[in-house]
Amino acid sequence: MTATIIDGRQVASKMQAEIAEQAAAFEQKNGYLPGLGVILVGEDPASQMYVRMKRRACKRAGIHSVAVDLPATATQDEVLQAVQQLNDDPKIHGILVQLPMPDQIDEETVLSAVSLDKDVDGFHPVNIGALAMKGRTPTFTPATPTGCMVLIDEVGVDPSGKNAVVLGRSNIVGLPAALMLIKANATVTICHSRTPDIAAEVRKADIVIAAIGRANYVKGDWIKPGAVIIDVGTNKIDDPSDERGYKWVGDVDFEAAKEVAGAITVVPGGVGPLTITMLLSNTLKAAQRLAAK
Ligand code: GUN
Repeated sequence: MTATIIDGRQVASKMQAEIAEQAAAFEQKNGYLPGLGVILVGEDPASQMYVRMKRRACKRAGIHSVAVDLPATATQDEVLQAVQQLNDDPKIHGILVQLPMPDQIDEETVLSAVSLDKDVDGFHPVNIGALAMKGRTPTFTPATPTGCMVLIDEVGVDPSGKNAVVLGRSNIVGLPAALMLIKANATVTICHSRTPDIAAEVRKADIVIAAIGRANYVKGDWIKPGAVIIDVGTNKIDDPSDERGYKWVGDVDFEAAKEVAGAITVVPGGVGPLTITMLLSNTLKAAQRLAAK
């Protein structure tokens, strides 16, 4: 059996075209564009690249974006001031603080300072709390796990009643992905560095979300036949056959897994484009909510 290859770029481009249309309609109705403020602290190259991609995507979708770049030496007060300025700016409807931040910054304090109405990253403790609790609905959910859920839906799989395994328990991906799968009525197992037999857990999974940041970690013979595999990993590995000398691979051994899985994402071009799309979608939603207030 060869898996359906899930093309995130195609799904994202269709969704981004719809967001652009809605952003244009929003501007026509309200006389201003939806606006996103992006705060980047420090010069981490990966964060700089993600932020550049987010800002570019805003431009394409007709979303106004404001860049706040602070040096790696920025103090907690300076970051909080930047958040407050964006909270108070009526042209800004969504705020994103790129993570991770330098060690001197207390992440929890900064994320808690983002206005709940503008928390398009879904990382405010109130939104994460609502995601974790039964019968509560968060206003916004984090972009990457939301993108994973969109891709699972895209292949026509309903998580309800399925065994789902999430590899990784990060605040940005693994934990919220597990919470979203629970909300969707899956039976969820989270695996991490202290899990004794990850292969055995993956073998039971109808749905796997891999977000551990280890190249080709999940082997083909761990995959349950027909399972849906969502690979969040973006790992740079040496590749002498590539003219750049490296290539990007996921957390799953794609070549082996695609022979067993029912559907599988590619890396790059799988979850990544959806992450950006979900941010744009949340920003549009934030602008629409604030305009209606
Ligand atoms: N760092 C890696 N992914 C993300 C994300 O989705 N949002 C933020 N704010 N930081 C990140």
